[in-house]
Amino acid sequence: MKMWSGRFTHGPDAEFEQWQRSFPFDRVLLPYEVAASMAHASALAKAGVLSAEELAATLFALDQIGREGTPEADDPAIEDVHHYVETRLVELIGEVGYKLHTGRSRNEQIATDLRLYVREQIDEVTRLLAEFASAFVKQAEEAGDSAMPAYTHLQRAEPVLVAHWLLAYVEMFLRDIDRLSDCRKRLNVCPLGSGAVAGTILPLDREAISAQLEFDSPTANSMDATSDRDFAIEFVQVLSFVALHLSRWAEEFILFSTAEFGFLKLPEQYSTGSSAMPQKKNPDALELIRGKAGKVFAEATALFVGMKGLPLAYNKDLQESQQPVFSAAHQMSSMLRVAAGFVTTVELNYPRMQKAASSGFMNAQAAAAYLVRQGIPFRRAHELVGKGVRLCVEQSCELEQLSKEDYALCGIDANEHFYNSLALEEVLAIHNVPGGTAASRVHEALQTAKEKLSQFFGVAHACT
Ligand code: ARG
Repeated sequence: MKMWSGRFTHGPDAEFEQWQRSFPFDRVLLPYEVAASMAHASALAKAGVLSAEELAATLFALDQIGREGTPEADDPAIEDVHHYVETRLVELIGEVGYKLHTGRSRNEQIATDLRLYVREQIDEVTRLLAEFASAFVKQAEEAGDSAMPAYTHLQRAEPVLVAHWLLAYVEMFLRDIDRLSDCRKRLNVCPLGSGAVAGTILPLDREAISAQLEFDSPTANSMDATSDRDFAIEFVQVLSFVALHLSRWAEEFILFSTAEFGFLKLPEQYSTGSSAMPQKKNPDALELIRGKAGKVFAEATALFVGMKGLPLAYNKDLQESQQPVFSAAHQMSSMLRVAAGFVTTVELNYPRMQKAASSGFMNAQAAAAYLVRQGIPFRRAHELVGKGVRLCVEQSCELEQLSKEDYALCGIDANEHFYNSLALEEVLAIHNVPGGTAASRVHEALQTAKEKLSQFFGVAHACT
């Protein structure tokens, strides 16, 4: 039976009827629709609308509907997930099933179901992000005190510890976890009891309904509650941040996997070959992550554009807000699973990175810093070392290979201490500030990251 046919003399146009249905996609909301319906049924019983037996029968049937799960085949007679549950309920317990819709509206139901769905997705993405970040932490631990070049303008800039570089990604993903938790706080209010727009017509215990569904409180305004999708937009925007970070990571790893860099060996489990060129091993997993990131941004834009200019309160346009959320959440989970697998299995080429860290005059700033410690103003020291670099370029050598005499030509008194300051360990060690790449600072940062991540796992798993 339709949910709204009474006042109509004609049935809907056949094509329109099919076209406006949401069951083909909102079926994923079944578990949340069942949970919300159970909470509503209990409130109806408290309000005297359902007898104790009717409540028991309703809850029993709802539980069964939940356990049956979404039917395999789409039923064209079913309009949406709400209609499905009502139809199945009546099949199971007869006329009493029609009582469940007393004092409620699909407008508050869909708002509630979506919140429950997004809340669960937030928890899932948080878990996956924590696992992904832990894979970086593990690699950072394995890297020990190996060094690599850090780039600015994609030109060699200064050496850093490999662990320091890996922990940079951990920071991005920790921020994303924080964003998700922030989004969850605002999301966690319960629209049930808002009715179609003005609030339910029954004295339902909204506090109890909210508590049963583990919300923090009922929503404050029925008009906002039935039409608000900020939580969905916010969630997909946070996913866009994650996708942005994933795409930056994927791009850098692709670059570092090239023969030109050779900093990492692509894991065979996450690479494919070429049908034409027998020698090829391609970074498909990373490329697809980079590519799919754009799709997540697209879903965020679709949500924003879909909401723009909607007057209060519920409008059917809102039905269109579901698929972008489902699609973005689905994409994100699969991307994160692949990404975590990749980081877990990838092999970093430490000797090659270390070698790259020792060439390209990346100790120039450290040389200037040494001169500064001798009382030479930095601008002057910069100029003198720059002259040294020029000589090196002419002689195709590194700063530590330039002779005392050549340094004298540059105005530098190159004694033993000066040469010592050019060694890679020294260059790394002078970045001794919180957040810097000096080994002791990086070890501290590693511990902090581990502690932050450990809260997402059982003690034993704490990324050891
Ligand atoms: N399938 C609808 C949606 O997703 C449910 C709400 C329908 N409400 C209504 N007044 N027609 O938005």
